[in-house]
Amino acid sequence: MFDIGVERLMGGGTGVPTSGPQETSFAGQGEPSGNGDGAGKRQRQTHDGGVKPPLHGIGKTDGEKHGSEAPHSQGRGTFYLETFGCQMNEHDSEKVAGVLLARGYRQVETVEAADVVLYNTCSIREKAAQKVFSRLGEWRPGLESSRLTVAGSTFQRSESQDPGSPSEPGAPGALHRGKGEKLIGVLGCVAQQEGEKIFARAPWVSLVCGSASYRKLPEMIAELERGNRRVTGLDTDTDETFETEITRRDNPWRAYLTIIEGCDKACSYCVVPFTRGPERSRTSASILEEVRQLADGGYTEVQLLGQTVNSYADPSARKMRFSELLVAVAEVPGIRRVRFTTSHPRDFGKDIVEAIEAVPAICEHVHLPVQSGSTRVLKAMARTYTREEYLEKVALMHNAKRPISITTDLIVGFPGETEMEFEETLSLLDHVQYDGAFCFKYSPRPNTPSLKMADVIPEEEKSRRLAVLMEKQREIQRARNLRLVGETVEVMVEGKSKKEHPSIGGANGSAVRVSQWSGHTSSNKVMNFTSRREESLGDYVRVKVVSATPNSLVGEVAVEAEARRKD
Ligand code: 5AD
Ligand code: SF4
Repeated sequence: MFDIGVERLMGGGTGVPTSGPQETSFAGQGEPSGNGDGAGKRQRQTHDGGVKPPLHGIGKTDGEKHGSEAPHSQGRGTFYLETFGCQMNEHDSEKVAGVLLARGYRQVETVEAADVVLYNTCSIREKAAQKVFSRLGEWRPGLESSRLTVAGSTFQRSESQDPGSPSEPGAPGALHRGKGEKLIGVLGCVAQQEGEKIFARAPWVSLVCGSASYRKLPEMIAELERGNRRVTGLDTDTDETFETEITRRDNPWRAYLTIIEGCDKACSYCVVPFTRGPERSRTSASILEEVRQLADGGYTEVQLLGQTVNSYADPSARKMRFSELLVAVAEVPGIRRVRFTTSHPRDFGKDIVEAIEAVPAICEHVHLPVQSGSTRVLKAMARTYTREEYLEKVALMHNAKRPISITTDLIVGFPGETEMEFEETLSLLDHVQYDGAFCFKYSPRPNTPSLKMADVIPEEEKSRRLAVLMEKQREIQRARNLRLVGETVEVMVEGKSKKEHPSIGGANGSAVRVSQWSGHTSSNKVMNFTSRREESLGDYVRVKVVSATPNSLVGEVAVEAEARRKD
């Protein structure tokens, strides 16, 4: 899919699997390990545990959400923004925040403090979409627990109004917000998919906007402020990509950067082509310019994003290939790590592997969703490759000069999937030896061709297959991670644990405090490690692996690195 891969809802935060046979990740991807205290997301910490002032590169705003304001902020109002779903959504939210901050809005961390409450939603599986509606349900006027305490009593609506139709300012039957009431907006994939139907289901919502219209958000909010009750932005036929002058980036060292929006692949189970529209790539020049600005602003890691990132097609005369772009980004002075997600197997070729082999700054990790190990099921999914073709791409990575960590997405219980076909998926895991897999039960989605397919697999059977699949993958990951014990790897320091180990013996029997840190390796594995000194968030350190679990590595700062520092 999505090939976009990594979704927060899947437990991508720490790579720790959820307990039930649910949509779950065994991949150590996503945000920094939960082991950290979160400081890594907001502030730059100094050696002495103090906090450096925020970096002020272009494309970045103040590191704190509370009180972050654009220079010309005139106290327009406050907004709260909650994000569901994948990294694309996370990054879209950074851009939405940037657009609003630039117009003088201020971001706050609680709904209570907000004038405008925005939900950036995900509809990839039914569960994700339901979650959004249950969040919206919290605002239902009249509910004792309603968050919309004022609005509940002051909303007025004429009986004759079609609940689905947007109303004109002051039109009879328009819903009027009372003083102090909040404006609630639904953004993202659910917005695009459900459109104005959201107004019928949750009439207290006044803004529905898909990702292709985010640029217009300030105007849309202004319209609402002028008294218009409902506004929608649902075009997907724009040929613009969503570039903004200011992006409010949440992580001070890792910058996400969308290089291609939308998806043309039309997998038979997937809503993304409907919710995000056709593929649109940014010019290589504008991408590289932004990377240079990011590097100037102190970012050392860049993660290139796209539903099918390797289908990137440079719209400029330069016609830079995706693999060339990877190299060009890695060559920008100051950039130490380049990641990219998610790759589609059809467009994954030798040139990408060669780029990884040749350029150490290109991370040794490829997220290559396979979805199923059965050629028949892949055909029914319209994935455009066979099991054998997929394995050929994997062989390119297995034979690479640098070890490349491979992760994937898998769907069990696609309509008509037989037990034997499911077993083909299990045997594929043996062949590939993935370092992580996001495993899902097939979820029927509106507008998708697979919705009408026969031989629906019962829910309990899907759950059983999911549990079997996850258990197998867990064991593969355990074995793969254990094999790394004894090796020394580079880790970006992303979080510090609050707990400190009690003092242990130093060189001459002296007491030494050992603190606990976390970060990611180039192969995107979560590393929890100890250090005898105060590390700096955002730094790169050499860490020796001392033990491992299926979802993370455990290590200690390598002794030779310690020694070098003392010199
Ligand atoms: N049901 C289950 N999983 C899905 N995905 C996409 N659509 C569906 C669906 N209808 C999964 C794919 C994709 C990942 C992000 O979500 O595995 O790669
Ligand atoms: Fe990925 Fe296929 Fe969905 Fe496109 S249609 S986002 S390739 S799963």
